[in-house]
Amino acid sequence: MTTMKKMEKLRELSRKVEAGGGQAAIDKQHSLGKLTARERVLALLDEGSFTELDKFVAHHCSNFDMAGKEAPGEGVITGYGTIDGRLTFIYAQDFTVLGGSLGEMHANKICKVMDMAMKMGAPIIGISDSGGARIQEAINALAGYGKIFYANTIASGVVPQISVILGPSAGGAVYSPALTDFVFMVKDISKMFITGPQVIKTVTGEDVSAEALGGAMTHNKISGVAHFAADTEAECFDQIRRLLSFLPSNNLEEGPAYECQDDPLRQEELLNSIIPDNPNAPYDMKKVIAAIADNGDFFEVQEYYAGNIITCFARFDGQSVGIIANQPKVMAGCLDINASDKAARFIRFCDAFNIPVLNLVDVPGFLPGVNQEYGGIIRHGAKMLYAYSEATVPKITLVTRKAYGGAYLAMCSKDLGADQVIAWPTAEIAVMGAEGAANIIFRKEIEAAADPEATRQRLIEEYKERFATPYVAAESGLADLVIEPAETRPVLVNALRMLSTKRESRPAKKHGNIPM
Ligand code: HXC
Repeated sequence: MTTMKKMEKLRELSRKVEAGGGQAAIDKQHSLGKLTARERVLALLDEGSFTELDKFVAHHCSNFDMAGKEAPGEGVITGYGTIDGRLTFIYAQDFTVLGGSLGEMHANKICKVMDMAMKMGAPIIGISDSGGARIQEAINALAGYGKIFYANTIASGVVPQISVILGPSAGGAVYSPALTDFVFMVKDISKMFITGPQVIKTVTGEDVSAEALGGAMTHNKISGVAHFAADTEAECFDQIRRLLSFLPSNNLEEGPAYECQDDPLRQEELLNSIIPDNPNAPYDMKKVIAAIADNGDFFEVQEYYAGNIITCFARFDGQSVGIIANQPKVMAGCLDINASDKAARFIRFCDAFNIPVLNLVDVPGFLPGVNQEYGGIIRHGAKMLYAYSEATVPKITLVTRKAYGGAYLAMCSKDLGADQVIAWPTAEIAVMGAEGAANIIFRKEIEAAADPEATRQRLIEEYKERFATPYVAAESGLADLVIEPAETRPVLVNALRMLSTKRESRPAKKHGNIPM
């Protein structure tokens, strides 16, 4: 064969792979409002940066109709490129090829880029759009999933792992995304479930649509499986790029530093009046975050889940910070099972990837209720205590208002290793709320009084004056600073600068045993 012919052969083979499952399948994909796998990779990565690997990998299966059946690219596109100039590894399942189903060689392609991501210390992004295990490959397909789950687990805490669900992801296949750090979904396009609507109908008799069972908002709002929801694939890719802008490429790096366009010493007068006079009146903690972060900019993680706690990334002085904040506007900012899960996982991500955490505290306590107790609030709430105690990144706790009891500890008190506890004059750092406390410690005095109700109110006020303040904590050194709210941003920037050289080690061990 002449050199010219060899060139032509390469071009022809490449064209074949690039055509995926053929025009009819591509048209069907487009008619569902979906991009093809190749279009997705090219849309997400920087222009011209994609290098495709393993283009000519082929299956070895001869079961059923598979002998001689071609599966271009083995139903998955893999390779590397850049996002905002930073190296990223990627794979995208190609639904137009055998429904994106996963066989042995398809899995090998995925595992190869995951291994490379770990070696090179770069994020791995996986785009799922698949009918699941390739049925013809039987147990070899299952083995492929097993290898991916194993690789996900080994990569956890080494490089950021991002899952993008852009089609079906059903059965055991959902466990790869579940093992990764962040799951992105798109409304009407993404579906995740262990058992689909038909099986559920047969087994339990429940009638449910695929969207209601495993669509984007179901997993963003109800199950907490997903972290981000978008209306379109293009919006989803913007979200991924934005998320990556806050993250280091691996666990040995710091988050990327940006030039700060906002005055680090900016004072924010509005914060001096943001706390209502009525201690039970809500306010929006997101306004506090916007007032203190660089350019008022922050990026929420799990925005639609457990709104009583906010988890988000922001920058201070150009440096990434993870914020965990009680939201007094939702359930008075109480901690419950879902909030504890959401926060603990976020704290552990930040700690694994050297991102300092800032805790904004206005928490009346753990949510009371039989459902919470039966659901294991003890076990779930413990995750927060564990995650904060375990974290060695800089930890700053800012108490804006309530910080009561176990929930005060669970939001990273001094004793859980907060490097700086900063309190506003409106802070109420105490063992419990004034009413409850006064009713218990002054019970006899109230009962014996000529006017028990007036006595109760007087004693509650006395308790508030003495204990529902930041000064008891400050007297004990449990709050390092009491500051005017307007000064918060400069104080935080200075604290983060001071903590940037923090080194803290832990006793050697195989791994801890976080309550799960
Ligand atoms: C082999 C598959 C496949 C699969 C789809 N295809 N899923 N081939 N193995 N798992 C093929 C179809 O035969 C079809 O081929 C092409 O992909 C497109 O599929 P359609 O059914 O035409 O597409 P659509 O109507 O959009 O329906 C999509 C779907 C459906 C809902 C995903 O394909 C489906 O239900 N597939 C099976 C899903 C499933 O039960 N998977 C579980 C496998 S077990 P042709 O040649 O006709 O175009 C599993 C366990 C994993 O995943 C455990 C891990 C631990």
